[in-house]
Amino acid sequence: MNARRMAPGSGAVVQQIVGNWKMNGLGAELGELDALVAAGPVAGVSLAICPPATLLSRAAGRLAGSHVMLGGQDCHAAQSGAHTGDISAEMLADAGARLVILGHSERRADHGETDACVRAKVEAAWRAGLTPIVCVGETAAERDAGCTHEVVLAQLSGSLPQPLRAGLLMVAYEPVWAIGTGRTPTPDEIGAVHQAIAGVLPPDTPILYGGSVRPENAAALLAVPHVCGALVGGASLKAADFLAIARAAGAFVR
Ligand code: 13P
Repeated sequence: MNARRMAPGSGAVVQQIVGNWKMNGLGAELGELDALVAAGPVAGVSLAICPPATLLSRAAGRLAGSHVMLGGQDCHAAQSGAHTGDISAEMLADAGARLVILGHSERRADHGETDACVRAKVEAAWRAGLTPIVCVGETAAERDAGCTHEVVLAQLSGSLPQPLRAGLLMVAYEPVWAIGTGRTPTPDEIGAVHQAIAGVLPPDTPILYGGSVRPENAAALLAVPHVCGALVGGASLKAADFLAIARAAGAFVR
């Protein structure tokens, strides 16, 4: 079993299920958050939703005082200034966020974000008291070339500032080719990458898997050693699907 996930008798949260709404969601969809709140907590499972920036304040109102945390999807490295269209980590915190996804492959691809850029954003998140969820993952070509571990570990070392702020960090392994495709690595492949990542992080750092996590495959994916939760895209848009994944995670809490 996964030592990171085992917290016998401690009552500690040992599974993190985070929803990334990406560029989806209008005010009409906020009812999904109400449904998450109404369903109540799942023992031992921490839930968070990262809606688009336009919904952050309204989402904060809906989630206030609940068991569901709020997160952003990106932040600028600077605290404030002449950066039209950008949002700082301090602004996210001010809006009620406690987490921020950083270095998602869609940001790396669409906005040319480099590891150095992600590293600066991680510093910004820590400066604002946010927990960054740092995303890494190989492309299909990199996997086919047999360099998955090399790519992921290089991204990780380039994207994480030193010294690390243990206790204020999560990492998500998201193979680029698994995102939104319905395809996932095998449990053994995921376990091998997570083990490699775990080898370079402080022992209590949650390492999430992301990429086509659905209610149907959540139990199999969350059962993998060193998988401490999931970063969920499409299936986080509907409360029923997200809750089904959270309940699957709950089965691995001891
Ligand atoms: P999907 O769950 O839609 O594959 O997206 C995964 C992801 O990119 C989460 O950040």
